[in-house]
Amino acid sequence: MIVCLCEGVSDRVVQQIVDQGHQTVRAVASACGAGTRCGSCVCDLKRLLQGQQNSATPGDPQDPSTPGASR
Ligand code: FES
Repeated sequence: MIVCLCEGVSDRVVQQIVDQGHQTVRAVASACGAGTRCGSCVCDLKRLLQGQQNSATPGDPQDPSTPGASR
C-alpha cells in the first residue's frame, strides 16, 4: 500500500527504513522523502512507527490482521 502519494513510498519501504533504525517521522522522511511535501501522510507514518514499536506477535489472536482472529 502506498503511504506517501507525493513521493510514491509504500508501507513496505517505510517498514524497511524503520527496521534499519529510523525511529522518528523526521528520520523516515529524510531517508525516503515521505512526508516532505504536502504532509498529509505524516499521520500514517506516525501510525506505522507506533505499530512497529508495539508490534503484535505474528499469529496473535488479538491482532485483527491474523486470519481467523475473533471478530
Ligand atoms: S502524501 Fe506524503 S508528502 Fe504528500
